[in-house]
Amino acid sequence: MSPFLLTRTLPEDATDAALRADVLKGLTRTPRTLPPKWFYDAHGSDLFEQITELPEYYPTRAEREILVARSAEIAAATGARTLVELGSGSSAKTRHLIEALTGLRTYVPVDVSENALTQAGQALITERPGLQVHALIADFTARLPLPETPAPRLVAFLGGTIGNLLPAERAAFLASVRALLSPGDALLLGTDLVKDEEVLVRAYDDGAGVTAQFNKNVLTVVNRELGADFDPGAFDHVALWDAGNEWIEMRLRSRAAQTVKIRALDLTVDFAAGEELHTEVSAKFRKEGVRAELSGAGLGLTHWWTDREGRFALSLSTAR
Ligand code: SAH
Ligand code: AVI
Repeated sequence: MSPFLLTRTLPEDATDAALRADVLKGLTRTPRTLPPKWFYDAHGSDLFEQITELPEYYPTRAEREILVARSAEIAAATGARTLVELGSGSSAKTRHLIEALTGLRTYVPVDVSENALTQAGQALITERPGLQVHALIADFTARLPLPETPAPRLVAFLGGTIGNLLPAERAAFLASVRALLSPGDALLLGTDLVKDEEVLVRAYDDGAGVTAQFNKNVLTVVNRELGADFDPGAFDHVALWDAGNEWIEMRLRSRAAQTVKIRALDLTVDFAAGEELHTEVSAKFRKEGVRAELSGAGLGLTHWWTDREGRFALSLSTAR
């Protein structure tokens, strides 16, 4: 078998249909909303990689610090022979884990970004001869048809991406992950932690304006894929801390009253001056909240590790 397999679990046009449905629903409701998974075309994935290197964006560095310090413990605790990674992107940090998992036979990166999967997968098979990489183009919030691979399985969901789901979506997502786990399998979850508001807001509103470009990229995606005429320059990037929900919100604020046409949907949308289009939440967590959410999905927390500054946590849990 070739060491690199790429499986599309969705038909070629499913992305298009899903984007249409999301845009139609999101732009005709109040407040207008677009789901964050549409940030990640090739340019959006590249902008995200740039974000991970910004001085203000600490989560990637903090999580890498934990992976460097704890991968050997994770390997000993799980003995994983298959690593499934949801929202794997560039798989950059995952390399520390892959190196430590000496019995690892198969790596299954799952992402909506075909570009990211192909680049990361090809690099990994040269770095680790003997490793089977079975990449899956799939939406991790849908039912995942995972390939038959050796047990035990470790499912990793890194980067704090779980925070980009709303609480009800997280509950459904964790329940579906729980359903993937057999006895002996485990979930490794990265969660960004609640901290000083100023530090959080700066991480999502950097001085170089990369996060603003990333936020506006969703408009470019809708323009290209659905023949819309959004002017990204006519919107301001907004990042705010919602203390009640303990999440960061990213929005795009219309600088003036304007009308946008989405040709493929035969839809016209009027934005008032100052009206905000909601594009992302990024929830921040506390240990007891993570434990409770895992428990609600039938998962029991077994390990909790943070970086030295206590900014980010990795947890390991198993099916109860
Ligand atoms: N895990 C990496 C990347 C995080 S960026 C890290 O920690 O740095 C979030 C990744 O999740 C992107 O690669 C994006 O394409 C992917 N993604 C976002 N929503 C998704 C969805 N619904 N299904 C599958 N992948 C998704
Ligand atoms: C992928 N995810 C965890 C990032 C986050 O921090 O919520 C996406 C992001 N949005 C703005 N900057 C980074």
